[in-house]
Amino acid sequence: MTLARHGATSRGGVNRQALSAEDIEARRTMIGWARGIGCSAFGDALGNFFIRLEGSRPELAPVLTGSHLDSQPTGGKFDGVYGVLAGFEVLQAIRDSGLVPVRSVEVVSWMNEEGSRFAPGMMGSAGFAGARTLTEILSVRDAGQQSVAEALAELARALPDLPSRPLRTPVHSYIEAHIEQAPVLEARRLPIGIVTGIQGKRTFRATVTGEESHAGTTPHRRRRDALLSATGMVQALEKLCFDPQDITRFTVGMFRVEPNAPSVIPAKVVFSIDIRHESSQRLIELGDAVLPLCSAHAGPCDVRVEELSTAMSLEFPESIRSDIEKAAARLGLGHMRLLSAAGHDARYLNDHCETGMIFIPCLKGVSHHESESATAADLAAGARVLAEVVWARANDLP
Ligand code: GLV
Ligand code: MN
Ligand code: MN
Repeated sequence: MTLARHGATSRGGVNRQALSAEDIEARRTMIGWARGIGCSAFGDALGNFFIRLEGSRPELAPVLTGSHLDSQPTGGKFDGVYGVLAGFEVLQAIRDSGLVPVRSVEVVSWMNEEGSRFAPGMMGSAGFAGARTLTEILSVRDAGQQSVAEALAELARALPDLPSRPLRTPVHSYIEAHIEQAPVLEARRLPIGIVTGIQGKRTFRATVTGEESHAGTTPHRRRRDALLSATGMVQALEKLCFDPQDITRFTVGMFRVEPNAPSVIPAKVVFSIDIRHESSQRLIELGDAVLPLCSAHAGPCDVRVEELSTAMSLEFPESIRSDIEKAAARLGLGHMRLLSAAGHDARYLNDHCETGMIFIPCLKGVSHHESESATAADLAAGARVLAEVVWARANDLP
């Protein structure tokens, strides 16, 4: 609730964009908490944020846990933040126990998971794991034309004393706790989800270019109305992705019209396309149909389609899934295995080290919404399972 004050909205949610003043203040709060329990805080060239509890053999690769502090523009209090705070709770519990793990334990907040300020998201984790280059990420611009490089310079000015660590440092294992963002655990009254993997996702940006002119005087045959072409494309894409089994997920969440004036024919439309499917094969087919379909519905306008991110379905290793399962059983917590329909930074960490995820239920499965909520008992249950798995792995010798 303290972190939710940084970027609090009037309707009880959170708007904390990556590298914004609110994100920086949330980090400042966490730096204070970290120092309060004798842990160090540091960053890296991508604006990822780490808190470290040093183990007895600091030269060994650490166990890493966390998630993200950035939010959607009308986001909730738990998406991402829960994983960061559950990780911090693990550090506090280790401190309270008076024990010292062999490996260091680190909590991370990855930069720009949501991708609502800089698209596409999961920037910090993708860059850390080497799936995207630093140069490419630094040049991405937000809607106000500020680049990631400029936003990172502001972060450095705001937190000048934060040391920086190289990217791609070795990690022993990464475990991310997160609210489920879907209603399965709540419906089954189970506090713990053992995440088997993450469904695939392809995202695109379509730019439709027409021509601005007078709404009253321009005859229809001379119009190049970018909005009419764009809506035709959206409807065709919706038809392409229509799935009576409800496995395909298709969303146009961003739609910008220029000049956006009632009496001017729209000259330009930019819109986002987000397609997800648990079958990588199906996702390839659907994604590959986007450009031809948009071109076929361009009418008198031009269309450009850029693919922003391509992520196939993945499975986490069985070793870490069974560790999470055994921990939940040992603690007497009801659990089940399930696939994540939402994207997470764990996707990229999975290419870097042994990775897994723990889900807890959230109210009605609602997320990316200001009403997002979870019970204290479930939040605590997830943190306890996380603590068990992190502690065991932090004492795993090479
Ligand atoms: C992550 O927030 C996603 O969109 O899945
Ligand atoms: Mn999230
Ligand atoms: Mn999210």
